Amino acid sequence: MTQKLLRGRVLSFNERPQSIDDHGAYQYFEDGALLLADGRITAMGDYSDVAIKASGEFEVIDHHPFLILPGFIDPHLHFVQMQVVASYAANLLEWLNTYTFVEEQRFADPDHGARIAGEFFDTMIRFGTTTAAAYCSVHAASADAYFAEAERRNMLMLGGKCMMDRNCPEPLRDTPQQGYDETKALIEKWHGRGRNHYAITPRFAITSSPEQMEMVGALAAEHPDLHIQTHLSENDAEIAFTRELFPDQPDYLGIYEHYGLLGPKSLMGHAIHLEPREIARMAETRTVAVSCPTSNLFLGSGLFDHDGLQAAGVPIAVATDIGGGTSFSMLKTMDEFYKVLQLKGQRLNPLLSFYRMTRGNAEALSLADRIGSLNAGTDADLVVLNSRATPEMALKMRRVEHLAEELFLLQTLGDDRAVVETYVAGEALKREVEEART
Ligand code: GUN
Ligand code: ZN
Repeated sequence: MTQKLLRGRVLSFNERPQSIDDHGAYQYFEDGALLLADGRITAMGDYSDVAIKASGEFEVIDHHPFLILPGFIDPHLHFVQMQVVASYAANLLEWLNTYTFVEEQRFADPDHGARIAGEFFDTMIRFGTTTAAAYCSVHAASADAYFAEAERRNMLMLGGKCMMDRNCPEPLRDTPQQGYDETKALIEKWHGRGRNHYAITPRFAITSSPEQMEMVGALAAEHPDLHIQTHLSENDAEIAFTRELFPDQPDYLGIYEHYGLLGPKSLMGHAIHLEPREIARMAETRTVAVSCPTSNLFLGSGLFDHDGLQAAGVPIAVATDIGGGTSFSMLKTMDEFYKVLQLKGQRLNPLLSFYRMTRGNAEALSLADRIGSLNAGTDADLVVLNSRATPEMALKMRRVEHLAEELFLLQTLGDDRAVVETYVAGEALKREVEEART
């Protein structure tokens, strides 16, 4: 296969930056390059050093003066909610009942699922997101559509069919046995096929009976290598209802704990209103708190305590939560995360933001050996960013003197317009997607 030599300003994080001056946390090459072969990165460094490693047949692609970063990672969203975005509701439970549980019923039709999966992956690529962890609907066919499209595009994606057997409309209910059987069959069919990762997906404690939670626990015990994704402590009314449904458990997290669902591959969406016991157990079990800032602001759910959870040692990820979230852009998501932290009296420095969108989210997904950096040997999933993508950005760039200022500008004013190109396993896909849509 032909090698690709990409030239540009290359930025990759090694570890979580401790401050805005923590220059040891990342590698940055002003005249940098990456060498790609067989879907992998084979070298990263200064252009002059990398160029001499290219031999035989190779294509040179010059992305100067743009930044080349690892592709963005979105660890919590609902691919079946693309048409729920921007639905007018007072709060989470009203939003779920009025719009979301109605929309998801459309996925009983496999053709609808296939159509939205196509739209979804086009959108991921246009926004520079190369890996996501998605909730499908309760219908196994929606997970089939999702993973088939991921495989077709050779993207590293996580996802799973929701299990839900109560407190939702009848057409969206499975049963404990059906949820188990369908999940089992989907794992068999899709996990490890292409770059797909199956995630066991009990939607949240409100929509699963104790009998279903037992079955979810059995699935988790039978597949300890798989991710688990669910929702935790997003909204006060949701928490109160959950506590009524599981009165024997000490708190919301305690329900998932009781059924054996905590651990470093367990992704807890939102995790806003946590008790000290829950925070301590999340830290001890390395269970991941996935913050969804645009969703939390849009639904008025609350403000995520970034510094508190980080100090307690809870692994943190940041995600869009489409369609409670309001943007597919990880740049916009970090812009809103910054504002959430401001309201908490906390600071989010731009190095930490870009770490979180890339390597941080990869570490939270236990996938940093494959994605999230530009280290040789990892998968060639990349995003190319233009900090002058709009006239306003170009104007502000004239005042920018340092890399951190440029990253902050990208986060504050950038979106899909700043994404020049998205590479998936070494293939440039964004221009192709845009041309196919025009
Ligand atoms: N809790 C359970 N389901 C959902 C969902 O679809 N979106 C959000 N934001 N919270 C949830
Ligand atoms: Zn969600």
